Amino acid sequence: MALRIGDIAPNFQVDTTAGNINFHDWIGGSWCFFFSHPADFTPVCTTEMGRTAQLAGEFTKRNTKPLGLSTDGVQEHLEWIKDVDDTQNTVLEFPIVADADRKIAKLYDMIHDNESSNAAVRSVFIIDPDKKIRLTMTYPMSVGRNFDEILRVIDALQTGDKNGIATPADWQLGDDVIIPPSVSNEDAEKKFPQGFRQIRPYLRYTSVAS
Ligand code: BEZ
Repeated sequence: MALRIGDIAPNFQVDTTAGNINFHDWIGGSWCFFFSHPADFTPVCTTEMGRTAQLAGEFTKRNTKPLGLSTDGVQEHLEWIKDVDDTQNTVLEFPIVADADRKIAKLYDMIHDNESSNAAVRSVFIIDPDKKIRLTMTYPMSVGRNFDEILRVIDALQTGDKNGIATPADWQLGDDVIIPPSVSNEDAEKKFPQGFRQIRPYLRYTSVAS
């Protein structure tokens, strides 16, 4: 069965470009951005790997470790990383899982038979420090992901956890946030002494520190 939001991310032991890892131990007290790719030495994947490497500082700021996966072996990955660095003008330092036998891809339902019978689609799992899956996204092989959105959703999840709020459409760090309907006005007054705006009884905005 497909993995869902709220599930514990299945643990695994696997070789990566940074050595053998136990997934849960490797995540430790961080968040994780776990993302799959169809194959090494392919154009869209090369740009995505490069973009992730370029954003290393942004992921660190969010206490988030990127972990890539591609259905090739460690040696191919290491050769490919040289190309990624060269063509995307970056230094790729995060690990890439070697999944030539597709064991992890199958565990995480990353192979969608009607797209390809043997290559992973572009899956994203955002996993929190409790190893809980907080977001899933799936892109087809032909469409590169939007990395601004990946950072934005990590910001939204972390801001939500910290403040007990939800975030509106197209929210960006620093924008007003939404008070969940489960919080009464009386409780909202205590919880958000900075005040709130009520547009409808179910639509209330407040501000939180970012
Ligand atoms: C790519 O990364 O460019 C790609 C890989 C597999 C199928 C289509 C595109």
